[in-house]
Amino acid sequence: MNDILPDEAELWERFDDAVRDWLRAYGYRPIRMPIVEPTPLFARAIGEVTDIVEKEMYSFVDALNGEALTLRPEGTASCVRAVLQHSLLHGGPQRLWYAGPMFRHERPQKGRYRQFHQFGVEAFGYAGPDIDAEQIAMCARLWDELALSGIQLEINTLGSAEERLRHRAELIAYLENNRGALDADAQRRLQSNPLRILDSKNPRMQEVIEGAPKLMDFLGEASQEHFGGVQALLKEACIPYRINPRLVRGLDYYNLTVFEWVTDKLGAQGTVCAGGRYDGLIEQLGGKATQACGFAMGVERLVALMKEEHGAVTGQAAQSAPDIYVVHQGELALPSAFRTAEALRGAGYDVLFHCGGGSFKSQMKRADMSGAQIAVIIGDDEATEGSATLKYMREDAPQKRIPQDQLADVIGNYLIGDDNDGDL
Ligand code: HAM
Repeated sequence: MNDILPDEAELWERFDDAVRDWLRAYGYRPIRMPIVEPTPLFARAIGEVTDIVEKEMYSFVDALNGEALTLRPEGTASCVRAVLQHSLLHGGPQRLWYAGPMFRHERPQKGRYRQFHQFGVEAFGYAGPDIDAEQIAMCARLWDELALSGIQLEINTLGSAEERLRHRAELIAYLENNRGALDADAQRRLQSNPLRILDSKNPRMQEVIEGAPKLMDFLGEASQEHFGGVQALLKEACIPYRINPRLVRGLDYYNLTVFEWVTDKLGAQGTVCAGGRYDGLIEQLGGKATQACGFAMGVERLVALMKEEHGAVTGQAAQSAPDIYVVHQGELALPSAFRTAEALRGAGYDVLFHCGGGSFKSQMKRADMSGAQIAVIIGDDEATEGSATLKYMREDAPQKRIPQDQLADVIGNYLIGDDNDGDL
């Protein structure tokens, strides 16, 4: 679990701003869910035999009422719970987004943390492949807007529950016949979650995995048509993709389309965004059968990629510079400068007021480091006279004393360029 320090946090804010604009442009509306939910919600939604539910959840018993609670490991289950609890689907289809911390007790490494952050998107009540393709296309646009290159799209289809069941029976039979080649984890999962075995990275099992029956060969017409529809729209939008038949996802709620956006610039944890369709989940959690499709992206990984591709801006330079730095010295000057700073903020300027005293020289150094365009200097003389001295920080021009009540206008003219020859 990490502290996000100011240089980094400012990059996060730039990322957040871009993402919020982008979500709005695609018609998604915000929803905010609690960070803690009843434990059974995640067990039911994500699946009992998944890494997340079996070993990664921060679960605890509420000491006051004995309720089993869990810090959310992802947002989809909470979002569906909220949508059902507040009957949002009565208002027709919904496009929703959420953001915030998620918690998984994984082995930490670069790009994999125990508290991490996601932006997640869920669309409810859309049956066709168009929403799947639109969600994928919107990701592609975000990478473009963030000038991130080299994020590859992998897609797959998991078919319907019945198709997976038929495939599963054949897969179990095949794996039983090759039991000797399976590692302990795979043997344990053989009956409970054989599909996940196909996702194993164990090099000794790759040969057996290669030869396993493929879900793709069990798909009926409707599933094939849906997958074909997604691909046709991706081609329409000129979005390159690779079909990865081994893409099965680590959460059990998916059906039909699943996708991941992957980069090789971040080492082992290269999946920056992932999701897919989960048409059965709403009914499974007690709602009326409703189609659903969504994805979530990992903020830490995308911010790391932004740094990797564009370099990090650090220190004061990373901070957006104020318009004005207010420098003051003297007993009379303090209240006068304080009032002036507030008045300038009221006029719409970003103002850094010097706190902590010090000589004019050291204060001017601070003013310079802040990146401000203008220093407003108030000493006891100016305070007595009701004036201030203006100094241009970014050009060689004489400083000038002017009445305090004219400051906002004069600075305004200068900053919008009407009077930037230094002659105030
Ligand atoms: P997920 O694949 O578990 O899916 O997570 C989505 C993304 O969150 C990953 O691709 C990764 O970028 C980031 N992420 C996951 N775990 C960590 C971690 N420990 N540290 C850093 N980043 C991480 C879901 O969570 C689904 N709820 C997505 C979804 C929404 N499907 C449908 N709707």
